Amino acid sequence: MAKVLVLYYSRTGNTEKMAEAVKEGVENSEAEVDLKNIEKVEPAILTDYEGIIIGSPTYYGLSAAPVKEFLDKSIKFHGKLTNKIGSAFSSCATVGGGVESTILSILEAMLVHGMVVKGYSDIGHYGPISVGEPDERALKECQDIGERVGNLAARFS
Ligand SMILES: Cc1cc2nc3c(=O)[nH]c(=O)nc-3n(C[C@H](O)[C@H](O)[C@H](O)COP(=O)(O)O)c2cc1C
Repeated sequence: MAKVLVLYYSRTGNTEKMAEAVKEGVENSEAEVDLKNIEKVEPAILTDYEGIIIGSPTYYGLSAAPVKEFLDKSIKFHGKLTNKIGSAFSSCATVGGGVESTILSILEAMLVHGMVVKGYSDIGHYGPISVGEPDERALKECQDIGERVGNLAARFS
């Protein structure tokens, strides 16, 4: 069975709530799911999964330092993540606060790893976003991407 890893960093809980909704979505798919705090795992874990979804708060229009540090350390596995399915999500404080550039910065790292990045035509195009605490729309989008990435990972594996 395909496995999806949901990784997140969260200081005040908003991104964590989004990550839990993403996990619920994967549970509705054909894949298995693990949810982990990015500070508690090492990048070696990435090789165990067919799908990888990463969430970060928006910090100065980019991901938070622990997420970037994790991605930088993932160089040890460069070439080993090719064709895994990737997606990202982010929480910010204000509309126009750089939440999409945060998501894109994570997706860029996934592309450099040779991963297959999932886009979305009918919800937040790069991935779910939340302004402050995630509302019903944001949580639904998180569930949606979890389910879609899970099903895609299952199809690819
Ligand atoms: C160091 C720092 C930088 C931040 N930079 C931004 C920013 O550029 N744009 C924005 O909209 N919010 C910014 N925020 C607010 C957080 O993105 C926002 O509060 C988010 O919901 C926090 O997520 P969390 O509850 O998962 O920690 C920043 C917060 C911190 C602590």
